[in-house]
Amino acid sequence: MKVLVTGGTGYIGSHTCIQMIASGVTPVILDNLYNSKALVLDRIEEVTGTRPEFYQGDIRDSAILETIFAQHRIDAVIHFAGLKAVGESVEKPLMYYENNVAGTLNLVQAMERAGVTRLIFSSSATVYGDPASVPIRENFPTSATNPYGRSKLMVEECLSDFHKANPEWSITLLRYFNPVGAHKSGRLGEDPQGIPNNLLPFVAQVAVGRREKLGVFGNDYPTPDGTGVRDYIHVVDLADGHLAALNKVSQKAGLHIFNLGTGHGNSVLEMVAAFEQAAQKPIPYQILPRRPGDIAECWADPSYAEQQLGWKAQRSLQEMVEDTWRWQEMNPQGYQD
Ligand code: NAD
Ligand code: WQD
Repeated sequence: MKVLVTGGTGYIGSHTCIQMIASGVTPVILDNLYNSKALVLDRIEEVTGTRPEFYQGDIRDSAILETIFAQHRIDAVIHFAGLKAVGESVEKPLMYYENNVAGTLNLVQAMERAGVTRLIFSSSATVYGDPASVPIRENFPTSATNPYGRSKLMVEECLSDFHKANPEWSITLLRYFNPVGAHKSGRLGEDPQGIPNNLLPFVAQVAVGRREKLGVFGNDYPTPDGTGVRDYIHVVDLADGHLAALNKVSQKAGLHIFNLGTGHGNSVLEMVAAFEQAAQKPIPYQILPRRPGDIAECWADPSYAEQQLGWKAQRSLQEMVEDTWRWQEMNPQGYQD
């Protein structure tokens, strides 16, 4: 099976390509390298022995999509390419709608022309907005609290309408919770540019000495220790979830929606304590006011994915923090030649 992987040099895409290669699926990557480096291809080759075919280009460029579909017999598309910084999306909403929404429409149009009718899309738990209760099931109401989230929701809605008109397609929406961790080798991981927006990359940079201390955004939430609770999932488990979707549902016509999470929530302070244990050093932190737009608790009910895909997250919190730390310690400045 050959799969076009948009955004394949990014954090989740690169780990998914590794799991694909290991299971005999051939990835063809399209990425404009806006938020990733070509060095990732060397690292994928290093750990798998296979260098994925790579096109440097943009999902908004119809010509490059046509070239790829003409040069390869693509069976399915896994669509990771997108911008994902919530704060930036508030500052530059049009950039997010243009890249994430218009980019996806362009990709689907190119697929239609090429007769490729199987799509797996990277959605997010952010489409649940501030959920009325946890754990969150796939049939919970959706809403958005910022342009990034709205771009994901818009794509979900566009794809759902498109599927109604084209029921022979297989479209899978995977709603990720909080991906963390890194490849066991320590050669691939998350490499945010600038100040990390997400918790674990920030903690890792404090541990490695790149930042002085963590700011904990609020300790007055209605949670056991007052800090925010999230469903952290190891990126390799998430990658395996894509393979399960590819093998189990992407052959079947339909609009398929799955939560990819562990079903467990951990607080910010629990994550800090787990990381301190892994790195064997204290992580200095300071309690700051709540971050605007944050919610108290968010964790998945992943039972539908288990039932339908035969997939379940396997890796423990300890593995998540140990693998993150190995990656950060071996690559203190991220990907560098
Ligand atoms: P990432 O930034 O590491 O990877 C995205 C990749 O897409 C990057 O390599 C970037 O260069 C590429 N890209 C962006 N716009 C492009 C375009 N127009 N054309 C071609 N390539 C383009 O992010 P990630 O964490 O790997 O996330 C992958 C996907 O999963 C994104 O769509 C993101 O919104 C979604 N997601 C991420 C998280 C998370 O916390 N990491 C959670 C839920 C959903
Ligand atoms: C986790 C917890 C923070 C940083 C975001 C996006 C969401 C999805 C995943 C893509 C919260 C706290 C964080 C820090 C902190 N992305 N925190 N200090 O907010 O669940 O989700 O990433 O789809 O759309 O909104 O993840 O890692 O930013 O925060 O105290 O420096 O850590 O308040 O409780 P979040 P996060």
